[in-house]
Amino acid sequence: MNFTNHLHVPVLSSEFENLLNVRPGGVYIDATFGRGGHSKIVLSKLSSTGRLLVFDRDVCAISCAKNLANNDSRVEIFHSEFSEIPSILSASRKKIDGIFFDLGVSSPQLENSSRGFSFKCDGPLDMRMNQEKGRTAEDWINSAPEKEIADVLWRFGEERFSRKIAKKIVYYRKDKAIKTTGVLADIIRSSIKGSYKIDPATRSFQAIRILINEELLELESILASVLCMLKKGGRLLVISFHSIEDRLVKHHFRDLSKVDTSLSGKGSPDYRLLTKKPIRATREEIQANRRSRSARLRGLECLV
Ligand SMILES: C[S@@+](CC[C@H](N)C(=O)[O-])C[C@H]1O[C@@H](n2cnc3c(N)ncnc32)[C@H](O)[C@@H]1O
Repeated sequence: MNFTNHLHVPVLSSEFENLLNVRPGGVYIDATFGRGGHSKIVLSKLSSTGRLLVFDRDVCAISCAKNLANNDSRVEIFHSEFSEIPSILSASRKKIDGIFFDLGVSSPQLENSSRGFSFKCDGPLDMRMNQEKGRTAEDWINSAPEKEIADVLWRFGEERFSRKIAKKIVYYRKDKAIKTTGVLADIIRSSIKGSYKIDPATRSFQAIRILINEELLELESILASVLCMLKKGGRLLVISFHSIEDRLVKHHFRDLSKVDTSLSGKGSPDYRLLTKKPIRATREEIQANRRSRSARLRGLECLV
């Protein structure tokens, strides 16, 4: 398995470091290890008594994490969806000083054509971050009803031409199964007339990836369950790349940091917003790493 050729540059590194404000002896969770860019920042601040638990659902990411952990006894690794974190850690009942999420896919996942995430290189239509379970994009695209395809492209990709694309997909697959990213990208491109700034396949590929990996369900589930794991002063950071995800995080954080003014409410909130507005990449960072242009970082601190 070749995962070392592809690099992943962590986004918003210094903003992330400032916002997490690592306690040297603290316990931290990197819920989306990837290639460990953010983990390495945390490790550089942790003392020998500190701990870093890392999670990823991708086998290649976990192999990289193992390389890191071989040389560092502060690191513990879990190959798992992050929605499982509360149940995995419930036995230890340990509270944590911080947890962070850098959502979506990593550059190595995108750039490896055999993973099927990218319309830029031809490969099998897989798109699963965790290749050990779940249906592939090929399974779905060749069996879902036309309306379901249109709805997914509209809901997760905000694709204006969702119906046209869905119709073309269903027309094509009557003769032949759609098996590769190249074929799917061409079907999508041929459904949309005119010239466009970004590749017309961009939004549909993103939508299908979000569906196949249940990305919004994962995020909703962990946001609802992670807070009870934080110590007083513990911090939760989320970096998102998609407006639907960012909206979800924003509303969740805002509701938690509001004062409860009801009669039974105690009048002071349990959480404090660390970011009133999302932190965005600087022009310099965007020039150096285009992936950072859509990144938004938000943070919340537990006060009780
Ligand atoms: C953007 S990358 C993280 C990059 C990392 N911060 C770094 O600097 O190298 C996102 C990673 O999160 C993983 N991931 C995404 N959703 C996940 C989930 N629900 N559970 C576990 N891992 C997930 C992906 O497999 C991918 O490796």
